[in-house]
Amino acid sequence: MKSLINIAVIIALVFAFTGCNKPENKQVANTKLAIIPEPETVKLTSGNFSINKNTTVYCNNESLLPVANYFNKKVSDALGFNLKIVVGEGDGINLILSDDSDNILGNEGYKLNVTKKSIAIIANKANGVFYGLQTLRQMLPPQIKSKTLQFDIKWSVPCAEIQDRPRFVWRGLMLDVSRHFFTKEEVKEYIDQLAEYKMNIFHWHLTDDQGWRIEIESLPKLTEKGAWRAERVGDWWQREPRGKDEPTIYGGFYSHDDIREVVKYAQERFVEIIPEIDVPGHSLSTIVAYPEISCTHTVKDINVGNKFYTVDENSLCVGNDQTFEYLDKIFTEIAALFPSEYIHVGGDECYKGFWEKCPKCQKRMHDEHLENTKELQSYFIKRMEKLLHEKNKKLIGWDEILEGGLAPNATVMSWRGMENGIKAAKAGHKVIMTPTKNCYLDLYQGEPSVEPATYSMSRLSDSYSFEPVPEGINPKLILGGQGNLWTESVPNFWHAEYMTWPRGWALAEVFWSPKENRNWEDFVSRVEKHFERADFAKINYAQSMYNAIVTPVSGENGELKIKLDTEIKDLDIYYTFDNTNPYYLSSKYESLLSVPKNASRIRINTYKGEKPVGKLISLDIGMLEGKLKK
Ligand code: ACM
Ligand code: ZN
Repeated sequence: MKSLINIAVIIALVFAFTGCNKPENKQVANTKLAIIPEPETVKLTSGNFSINKNTTVYCNNESLLPVANYFNKKVSDALGFNLKIVVGEGDGINLILSDDSDNILGNEGYKLNVTKKSIAIIANKANGVFYGLQTLRQMLPPQIKSKTLQFDIKWSVPCAEIQDRPRFVWRGLMLDVSRHFFTKEEVKEYIDQLAEYKMNIFHWHLTDDQGWRIEIESLPKLTEKGAWRAERVGDWWQREPRGKDEPTIYGGFYSHDDIREVVKYAQERFVEIIPEIDVPGHSLSTIVAYPEISCTHTVKDINVGNKFYTVDENSLCVGNDQTFEYLDKIFTEIAALFPSEYIHVGGDECYKGFWEKCPKCQKRMHDEHLENTKELQSYFIKRMEKLLHEKNKKLIGWDEILEGGLAPNATVMSWRGMENGIKAAKAGHKVIMTPTKNCYLDLYQGEPSVEPATYSMSRLSDSYSFEPVPEGINPKLILGGQGNLWTESVPNFWHAEYMTWPRGWALAEVFWSPKENRNWEDFVSRVEKHFERADFAKINYAQSMYNAIVTPVSGENGELKIKLDTEIKDLDIYYTFDNTNPYYLSSKYESLLSVPKNASRIRINTYKGEKPVGKLISLDIGMLEGKLKK
């Protein structure tokens, strides 16, 4: 009988801890806050504020009603009821626009005070209140996204005093919608997700060789022809070009109405959209639509993802005045659609070989006294800057715009490392730092054999260790940074999420939190909590930080040795050479491995205690030997 009671108690406890096994019911212990990005200061006090059906959100100013409604929309499905929202103040959740313009908080900072009786979010601007509400949401248990039951949850917030403000004004993510197309709804979802982590810039890479994605009413062929290509899957760069009569059915574009809708949606989340029209290179889709503004008029099809660079022309003809007439039409419409201060004109990776042979480009160089095609690119960018200036817009370009001389007021996005950003800042230009090693979300985030194919490596720890302000550079010139998701190998939205999170969370913290608050181990523990939040919110993410790091190294006599490591601490690595899958009773990695005679594969996995947490990695010994010889 006693043992039966014990069993009943154990079952009750298991249910209490697992919340009846249903993910919707899981309770997350709020013993320590797990906020990303980490706020400037947090002081936990005792007790909790509980949200219930009677909880009211009080706005001290009508202008805060939209953020109150946003908050209610985000939590009401999970709560199972709507919060009351009124103008005024009282015992409840108070959203307060400060009238003493607290200089410490600036435009985006906030104070969040939680007591047992009420919550107060105080800020100088609605942006700050919005960010305070994001923090508040992260202090609540994870919230499901749609109307699925999430009962048995104690909707309580620990009492605390938080003061917070961003380190940088530019906290961005870029999404390439050309290589693969993402619908308007997916783009909105991406913006919503980045705003939840207090990012405020969405850089929309709208055009590239593989598709033109924005309607230009005065140049309709850009989307009639330029938005569509032959349908392909498989490895990018290896795809067969379009067959003779093959239909161009893959693609899509955004109408002006779509753009206005997305811009408004972003504004409601205090996100500024920076549109990018990538010129004069990366323009294959443009010149398929309008061959008259290319040098050779020879390109016929939108590239499907095969090798074409230097073979098929993808640069606009800079010698042709018609090119600038078309660009004026394009940027007139872009400037009218996007309220941003900046427009991004690309400027990257422009192949100049066709300019070398083009009589019009050569004449332009002669007439403008330009020494070489780098100076021709500089001439182009300077002309673009003037064109944008006439439309009250400022120019941003990738760091190649330094080649041949930088346009006088250009802002530089440094991607090929930090050097060009440093050069630009030393010349007094504003800079956004997005070096590939830390900020390229299209790169591998862990052991390549268990990740979808892409280029080089940029781990979560690389994102987290990023420091945007180089030593000796005036920090005022570094506006901030952004993560860039190029989509050559990102064919769908859930993979876009997989590539973005958690590296985007790391970058959000780099761009928002004080440098001295950054702590890798603490961040990893918060990431694990946010994995759980993302599960509830149905947001995909990568768990690559759990996978082993495998490095072939050379032994004394040049023989293969294998070094294993982990990106995060407290993981054990188990391995086998005997063609079985590793288990926690297999050999545990302690030090550099020698390869046993005739071993053909090494299999590796990571464990937390007896629980596998990484992906099974299985590597051919011959392949590792080959890597060593390279
Ligand atoms: C770039 O990655 N080409 C800016
Ligand atoms: Zn030309």
